[in-house]
Amino acid sequence: MAQDAKIMAAALRRYQADQDARKKEWDNRVRTLYRRLPRLAIIERELQGTAAKIILAAFSEGNPDQAVAELERENLELQRERAELLVGAGYPYDYLDEKPTCPICQDAGILPDGGACRCLMAYYAREQNRRLSRLLDLGSQSFDTFSFDWYSNQIWDQFGRSPLENMEMIREICGNYAHTFGPQSGNMLFTGAPGLGKTFLSACIAREVSDLGFSVVYDTAAHIFQRFECEKFGRESALEENAWEDVGRYLHCDLLIMDDLGTEMRTDFVQAAFYRIVNDRLLHRRKTVLSTNLDLEDIARRYGDAVLSRLRGEYQLLRFFGEDIRLLKRK
Ligand SMILES: Nc1ncnc2c1ncn2[C@@H]1O[C@H](COP(=O)(O)OP(=O)(O)OP(=O)(O)O)[C@@H](O)[C@H]1O
Ligand SMILES: [Mg+2]
Ligand SMILES: [Zn+2]
Repeated sequence: MAQDAKIMAAALRRYQADQDARKKEWDNRVRTLYRRLPRLAIIERELQGTAAKIILAAFSEGNPDQAVAELERENLELQRERAELLVGAGYPYDYLDEKPTCPICQDAGILPDGGACRCLMAYYAREQNRRLSRLLDLGSQSFDTFSFDWYSNQIWDQFGRSPLENMEMIREICGNYAHTFGPQSGNMLFTGAPGLGKTFLSACIAREVSDLGFSVVYDTAAHIFQRFECEKFGRESALEENAWEDVGRYLHCDLLIMDDLGTEMRTDFVQAAFYRIVNDRLLHRRKTVLSTNLDLEDIARRYGDAVLSRLRGEYQLLRFFGEDIRLLKRK
């Protein structure tokens, strides 16, 4: 998994902030309790004292075993008294034992092998989803809310099946793609007329793959090419992040979802940039989902045969057809 450094940094900040908040809450809880039951504070201090003494006794001359055993007995006695006090006051006996929120990493966020723990990856996914939500409707568009009601069951002759049958198949393929996303996954090309659910399904996939902990970038082709141009020609806008950072994200993320291919201006620069995106990502086995209203001939004309050959060979083609849902919803 190739995590985005910037998103990971933001995730870590929130992770740390939540831990600080928990620590503060814990301190408050303990202070309130000590005010109610001052004997607990004394026990706590004594427990800390015996713990230090046990360590020292182990190194002492004479009969360390006996000294250690005596101190351990004292220690247990104090713990018993503390538990009794707590239970007597209506608290659970282990109310003062600090329990980590994550039993896997003990709230370190990092595993012994240096990888990020699941608990930290949940923060990463949330941070990434926040970014994806700026462009996609992750709130209401999910595999669960995907509806088949908009697709007719009348067979379309040129496709040999109905839009409904076709969408059932596409929904199935996209669902499987998202649930099982990984190094073995392929690439997909969504083609078809406007208003058929291409962006909707892109949002479903983006959310699921992001939740699995992969880096996911969604953007429109027009904006992607614009960022490539800024990077190449050094045109920077103060409002946006560095273009080279964006270009790095487009090229390096685990899953790039590039929407509305073909709506951008037609230039030699765009043609070269698109070839670079497709080719570079294939070479590094990074996955891409493309959406377009163009058909394969249009694609060949606009971007050249080298791109077409790669798309044909390495992308699963999903053809969307049916009636424009935007129009149907207006009726
Ligand atoms: N299966 C579905 N269930 C419910 N609403 C849907 C479904 N598919 C699409 N819609 C809605 O229909 C509208 C158009 O869908 P979407 O934006 O996905 O179309 P598109 O294929 O990406 O079109 P375009 O090619 O113009 O970008 C959106 O408002 C979307 O929420
Ligand atoms: Mg769309
Ligand atoms: Zn953890």
